[in-house]
Amino acid sequence: DSRLDHVAVHLPDDHAARALAKDAREGLSSNPKTLPPKWFYDARGSELFEEITRLPEYYPTRAEREILAARADEIAGLTGACTLVELGSGSSEKTRLLLDALRRNETLEHIVALDVSESALRDASAALAEEYPGVQVSGVVGDFTEHLALLPGESPRLVAFLGGTIGNFLPGERAEFLSTIRGVLRPGEWLLLGTDLVKDEETLVQAYDDAQGVTAEFNRNVLRVLNRELSADFALDDFAHVAVWDADNEWIEMRLRARRPVTATIADLGLSIDFAEGEEMRTEVSAKFRRERVAGELAAAGLTLEHWWTDVAGRFALSLARA
Ligand code: AVJ
Repeated sequence: DSRLDHVAVHLPDDHAARALAKDAREGLSSNPKTLPPKWFYDARGSELFEEITRLPEYYPTRAEREILAARADEIAGLTGACTLVELGSGSSEKTRLLLDALRRNETLEHIVALDVSESALRDASAALAEEYPGVQVSGVVGDFTEHLALLPGESPRLVAFLGGTIGNFLPGERAEFLSTIRGVLRPGEWLLLGTDLVKDEETLVQAYDDAQGVTAEFNRNVLRVLNRELSADFALDDFAHVAVWDADNEWIEMRLRARRPVTATIADLGLSIDFAEGEEMRTEVSAKFRRERVAGELAAAGLTLEHWWTDVAGRFALSLARA
């Protein structure tokens, strides 16, 4: 299809391997040990996440979809966006709710998807090009914390960062990310941001520690990634899944707890790592928000919160902010 741009690649071939090596070396050598959550998402991890989104305990995906279904036409009308920029591969049902609304609004000209995974992006871009004939589709292989400045597209653009993924950034990373977005947007352009909201501890912990153990598998999958990519020798059943609510920081923390003393070798890094029995390694934070915090952090980055919508049950919010 002549309307499908070549996927522009802004990452060298060995980017992921080098970044994982650096993150593993630093994270496993620090105290407490940590690993960044982005390494969950190999093919198996992405499938496990898809499975999580269908679990009865994991409400965020359904809550955000409810808001989008109710508000997509309003968002299209308010923004009049010609370009939808999706941070992520843009293949989701939720993205299509927005795209369909922009098409009904007769403003949609260009879809830009930014993702670290070239294969996910190629598949998503091809599908989007077929489903939205006459609309230009560009895939950009990049890291949304590094390559936002390279985003193409005609104004006004609407940048969508959905799913509550901003909650996986630490506060400092969040501030930097929002400032970068603000720097990329032209005055009058838009950010649509999905955030999970603070609620009772039981609901939150169950969403990250489901009865079927899918989230536990997802959490332990990061060890499989280390084993495969860095020739490590973690035994997955040496580690228990832990999800705790940190009330001070207002975030859920996922950890892997050593069930016994563990010595793991990471051959490609020439490292040997010891875990004491009961030692916990942090693998994810998932921050939960209140409206005032979202408005304040957007304002600090130079963005104005113009609309705030939640699902009927008030579990999740979509914010529309203007540069
Ligand atoms: C899609 C990245 C926002 O933090 O809720 C799901 C990932 N982690 N269960 C989240 C996740 C554990 C999810 N994000």
